Amino acid sequence: MTSWSPWLADIPGPFHRRLVAALQQDIAAGRLLPETRLPTHRALARALSTTVVTASRAYREAAALGLIHGTVGRGTFVAPRADAAAGTAEDLAAASVAGSPLAAEAAPLLDLGANVIAAGADPAGTVPRPAVAALLWNGLAQRHPPGGASNHRAAGAAWLRRAGWEPRPAGIVATGGAQHAILVTLAALVRPGDRILVESLTYPGIRTAAQCLGLQLVPVPIDGDGLVPEALAALCAAGPAPSSPPPRLLLCQPSLHNPTSAVMPAERRRAIAAIARRHDLAIVEDCVYEFLLDDPPPPLAALAPERTCHIVSGSKALAQGLRLGYIAAPEPLVPALQAQIAATGLAASPSWLDLAAHWIATGAAHRLTTVKRQEARLRQQLARTCLHGLSWLSHPASSHLWLRLPPPWQAAAFVDQARRQGIAVNPAGPFAADPAAAPAAVRLCLGAVADRRQLEGALNRLAGLLAGPPPPEEPVV
Ligand SMILES: Cc1ncc(COP(=O)(O)O)c(C=O)c1O
Repeated sequence: MTSWSPWLADIPGPFHRRLVAALQQDIAAGRLLPETRLPTHRALARALSTTVVTASRAYREAAALGLIHGTVGRGTFVAPRADAAAGTAEDLAAASVAGSPLAAEAAPLLDLGANVIAAGADPAGTVPRPAVAALLWNGLAQRHPPGGASNHRAAGAAWLRRAGWEPRPAGIVATGGAQHAILVTLAALVRPGDRILVESLTYPGIRTAAQCLGLQLVPVPIDGDGLVPEALAALCAAGPAPSSPPPRLLLCQPSLHNPTSAVMPAERRRAIAAIARRHDLAIVEDCVYEFLLDDPPPPLAALAPERTCHIVSGSKALAQGLRLGYIAAPEPLVPALQAQIAATGLAASPSWLDLAAHWIATGAAHRLTTVKRQEARLRQQLARTCLHGLSWLSHPASSHLWLRLPPPWQAAAFVDQARRQGIAVNPAGPFAADPAAAPAAVRLCLGAVADRRQLEGALNRLAGLLAGPPPPEEPVV
C-alpha cells in the first residue's frame, strides 16, 4: 500500500476539494505515478483526521475527473493517463474554490465535445516514424498545383475505390481538410444569396461555410434513416420562395450523419438521386465518417455521378492533425474547384499529400482506419451500458451520439451542469439548420478522451445528472 500523504496547507476551499486538488498536484508533479495504489478511504480519513465520508467524496470527485479509478475490494489507483487530466497549479487553486462555476471551468475538462476519432489510435505505433519524417521533409521542398499533383489525385482515387464505385484520378481534388472541401465545393457551385438544402440537423461547419459565402440554408426534415426524400421532393416542387431563387444544391451526410449517426439505406439514396435529377440539383455528400462502416451502402456519387461531389477527411480517417481532404467530383467541375482552392489557400500542403499517398500505398492508412473502427465500436458498447434507459440516437459504428434530454432539461442547463462536473459536451443549437428549432439535446463525442475508463466515468456522470431534475434557475433581478 502507498504511503501517500497529501499536503493540503496551501490549498483553499472545502476539505474534500483540497484533497482532490492535492491529488491532482501530486499527479501533475510526477509524485504519484499511473496505477499507483492509493490509501483506502478509511486509511486516508484516519491519516488526515477527517471522516470516511469526506475521503470517499474526494475519491468520487477525483474519479469523475478521470484522475483515479478503483473497484470495491480491489483498491483505488491513479489512472493510467491521469497526467493528461491533471492541470497546472493555477488550475488547481481555482478548482478548489468551493462550488463556484469558475472552479469547474478551471479544472481540466474531459472532452466529449470534439469529434476526434479514437485519439489514442493516432499513428504512433501504427506507422514507422522515420518514414513519416522523411516524407514531410521532402514535401517542404515541393510546390504543387491546386488540388494536388497527379500521384496525390491517384492516391485519393485509390483510397475511395470500392465495389460498385471507381472514381477516376481526373475527378479527384485534394484540399486542406473536409471543411475546406465543403467551402470550395459550395463556392464553385452556388452564388451569394442562393438557397441550399441541408438536413434539419447538420454539421455546424456547414452553417459556417454557408454564412461565409452568403448562402441561405433550407432545412429538410430527417428521420432515423436520414434525410426524408418525400420532404426533399416537396421542398423542390414548392418552387422559389418569394424573392429568392429555387434551391440549386443539396448538401447531406448519408453515412453516419453528424450529429444523429443515421445511415441512409440504399433505397433512400436512389430516391434522392432521382429527385436531384428531376429538379437539376447538385449534390454534395459529406462522408467523413463513412470509413467507420464495415459495408457502406452505395454513395450518391455512384448513383448520380454527373452531379455529385463526395467529400472525405484525413483528420477523421487517418490522424487528427492531418489537414487534408479529397473531393471526388464530376470531371467538368474540377477546374472550378481548383480555382476556388487557389483562391482560398493556393494548395493543400505537399507534405500532407505525400504522407497520405504513402500511407494509402503501403497499407498504413488501412491499418489506421481499422484501429479507429474497432475503437469506435468498443466505445459505442460502453455508451450503451452507461446511458441505458436514456433516449439517444447513434449507430454501433459511430464516434458520436445524440442524447435527447428528458424534460424539463434544456441543452444550455445540461451543458452548464456537465461543465461543472468537468465534462465538455455540445448543445443542439449549432447543429440546427434553423437555430430557433433546436431540440433539447446534446451531442456527445466518444473518441477524444484517450482513456476508455475516463470516458466511462464521464458518461456515468452525465447519466447521473439526468437521473435528477435540472437545478432551479438563478433569480434574475
Ligand atoms: C460532418 C463533418 N464534415 C466535415 C468535417 C470537417 O473535417 P476536417 O477536419 O477534415 O476539416 C467535420 C469535422 O468534424 C464533420 O463532422
